[in-house]
Amino acid sequence: MSMKKPVKKTCHSKETGQRNQGLLSGFILLIATLLLVACSVERPHSILDPAGPAAGHIATLWWQMFWVYAVVFIVTLSLLTLALRSRRREGSPMGSRFVFAAGVAIPALILVGMLILTLQTMDNLQATAEDLNVKVISHHWWFEVQYPEQGVVDANEIHVPVGSMVRFELSAAGVIHSFWVPRLGGKRDMLPDYYTELYLQADEPGVYHGTCTEYCAGVHALMGFRLVAHEPEDFSRWLEQAADPPPPPVEPQLQRGQEVFMRSGCAGCHTIKDVAPGTLGPDLTLIGGRRTLGAGTLENSRGNLAGWIANAQALKPGNEMPMSYLEPGDLHALVDYLWSLQ
Ligand code: CUA
Repeated sequence: MSMKKPVKKTCHSKETGQRNQGLLSGFILLIATLLLVACSVERPHSILDPAGPAAGHIATLWWQMFWVYAVVFIVTLSLLTLALRSRRREGSPMGSRFVFAAGVAIPALILVGMLILTLQTMDNLQATAEDLNVKVISHHWWFEVQYPEQGVVDANEIHVPVGSMVRFELSAAGVIHSFWVPRLGGKRDMLPDYYTELYLQADEPGVYHGTCTEYCAGVHALMGFRLVAHEPEDFSRWLEQAADPPPPPVEPQLQRGQEVFMRSGCAGCHTIKDVAPGTLGPDLTLIGGRRTLGAGTLENSRGNLAGWIANAQALKPGNEMPMSYLEPGDLHALVDYLWSLQ
């Protein structure tokens, strides 16, 4: 004998409605939190905080795309909601003509419009005349910076004058890297045996974060640099000072530091103008004035510099700097000497 189970009546539409409302509130809360976080934190890599004309053009295009696609998203979701709520009717007047307009014609118009805006932006990014030439060569995993006309070589830090168009000649020693200063402009690949060009201008004095933006194995994520934009007269002063070789140390502690540098293997890999000719690692002629160590890995301080010399592998695994086994007095003298080079 079969018995029919009593059918339990539930109010599905009410439950679903409550669940949807809960989801919507959660979604709005998430967006509000993300917006609050985005507004309150420092954003050195944000393309939406442009500080030069090239980045300005890119940010404008980003906002144009954002608003157009936001409208498309809202209209599409509204139509979907409408379709789910309405009953199916045979011979609806919104038939194939509507599908063609909303599914083919309007998207095609929007995409062509976006293409035109993108091409216009690419045209705006073209520059032909420069005020300063800077050569940047990427290595495993750091940036060599040369001012060929002024005979200055630096590493992981680029100095430029505010309001001047700078032509960057970019290349790589080894694998492909990519050069990007998000607040000043777009990205450009750095290729071995070939050079690419990028024109950037900073409108405001400041320190801008730059980064390698092409996966180059190993510690790619710790391959960064700083671009320092100075007022023109401050830049001229910096360049003039940087072109001079460092004066020979006079204080006994600095003399000891230079002596440690020469006998402990540092000179085999690093250049100090008129002191040591090594070319494997970054040029240290201006190391004391740099803002970071290890290509943006650490803030440059005496403590960090001592830690870096003692065991750079612990701070940036896989870089080419070996551990050193200096006695504390020698290490301090070396740090004092390097710190004096600026
Ligand atoms: Cu160099 Cu990624």
